[in-house]
Amino acid sequence: MDNQNKRIVLVTGATGGLGTAMCKNLFENGYHVVGNYRNKEKAEKWKQKLAEEGYQIDIVEGDVCSFDSSKRMIEEIEKNFGTIDILVNNAGITRDGRLARMSHQDWNDVINTNLNSVFNCTRNVIEGMIDRKFGRIINISSVNGQRGQFGQTNYSAAKAGIHGFTKTLAMEVAKYGITVNTISPGYIATDMVMAVPEKVRDQIVAQIPVGRLGGTHEVAHLVAFLASDKTSFITGANYSINGGQHVY
Ligand code: CAA
Repeated sequence: MDNQNKRIVLVTGATGGLGTAMCKNLFENGYHVVGNYRNKEKAEKWKQKLAEEGYQIDIVEGDVCSFDSSKRMIEEIEKNFGTIDILVNNAGITRDGRLARMSHQDWNDVINTNLNSVFNCTRNVIEGMIDRKFGRIINISSVNGQRGQFGQTNYSAAKAGIHGFTKTLAMEVAKYGITVNTISPGYIATDMVMAVPEKVRDQIVAQIPVGRLGGTHEVAHLVAFLASDKTSFITGANYSINGGQHVY
């Protein structure tokens, strides 16, 4: 199928561990994948490397913390490639530390990148999806938004907020053929998790019944499942993918 007939998916924070796996999987599933980035040099190398592996991914610059930048980015995608059918709100950061020591900056950075970004991107695609009567919004939350995690008041608040957003938006747009779902990964082998001090990480892995960190490809598989045209009756859901670390 040429790009003309493919569904277009935008993955934010595409060059990270989870983002990369999602882009690859979605490409393999026949989508026209556009990956968002902030660091041009890193993104160009990333695109080149993926192309050498056979993955043709388009990239687009945009600061998802900014409403205006997100709007510009989405307009650019629509002009160059076409309208967005599937949005994966994946961009996220950590600034871990106990609240008693947390700076205002670390609070704001995490809320802006992990939660406000979901509004900034979704708000700029949702009217088009409503007009076209199709859409998939997939929000990447975390096990640490479902439960607490020592040192992550900022991250847990943002990630819990994401699922509140999912539930309400799912109700608002269900009648237009748009589904809105959350994925809550546990500890996945990404740079973000590897940045946790080894001793602390070992203690965390010991609490995972499956006995290991998750693979990025395992989360990507779930993203592709929810992106599919066939999952039109799944909306407002929160999919846990955490090796049994948090069951409730
Ligand atoms: N439960 C209870 N107490 C804990 C604790 C825990 N989980 N972790 C640390 N503490 C206690 C220590 O025992 C110590 O207590 P004492 O002072 O009484 O001895 C105290 O907290 C140490 O606090 P400090 O602030 O001095 O420690 P620190 O600044 O060196 O590190 C931390 C604190 C940043 C929270 C560090 O423990 C850490 O990085 N924890 C991991 C946080 C985490 O899991 N982040 C996930 C990142 S990956 C991700 O977010 C992806 C995803 O979605 C899953």
